[in-house]
Amino acid sequence: MVHGFFITFEGGEGAGKSTQIERLASKMRAKKYDVLVTREPGGSPGAEAVRHVLLSGAAEPFGPRMEALLFAAARSDHVEQVIRPAVERGSIVLCDRFMDSSRVYQGVTGGLDPAFMGALEKVAINGMVPDMTLIFDIDPAEGLRRATARRGTDAGADRFEKETLDIHQRRREAFLAIAAAEPERCIVVDASADPDTVENVVTAAVFAALETMTPAHRKQAPG
Ligand code: TYD
Repeated sequence: MVHGFFITFEGGEGAGKSTQIERLASKMRAKKYDVLVTREPGGSPGAEAVRHVLLSGAAEPFGPRMEALLFAAARSDHVEQVIRPAVERGSIVLCDRFMDSSRVYQGVTGGLDPAFMGALEKVAINGMVPDMTLIFDIDPAEGLRRATARRGTDAGADRFEKETLDIHQRRREAFLAIAAAEPERCIVVDASADPDTVENVVTAAVFAALETMTPAHRKQAPG
């Protein structure tokens, strides 16, 4: 059985991931690829139910461990209900945030034990490692400015967006460290460029990866 392709989009706040995912999905659909766009936390009915608890800050008083477990619960449901079935059908899955967000937000800036985070990741993704991860890199001050502009000044920042610039800076460094440690999976995209330039970079990277994919590079189902 030939599998599809699983691409995740990661980075700090206001990096423009959602816009770029939509643009890429349209281009791929125009080329007749079967594309599924999804996001975390959420993406499946069970995970969407947990999303509100996390982003409203309702889980914050119970500490980062509790939040990390909830992100993992949501991810496990999303993987098993949506991502894995789509990839096994041969679809290209574009996912707005995934395991690297937990590594960075809960693991690094949440200060959680790497062994605990590693164990949670293993259970949550259950082998569903992204084929490709695009890390959108932007100066956090600029990213937060964009995020505020997008949201409008009436609505407040969510649980994670509202944290200090210093924390966002540490997240930026942590995402870059993941990219440096796993260059075969990760590509860093300069998200400070204008949207058309970013789109060109993303399109070139993704289509190059898809075109070099031969049957031997595709994952085979067990048996
Ligand atoms: P959301 O409003 O969906 O989006 P954006 O990706 O545009 O920032 O917010 C998701 C928030 O949840 C974001 O602040 C990052 C955080 N998050 C984690 O802390 N850990 C995770 O594992 C995931 C998936 C997200």
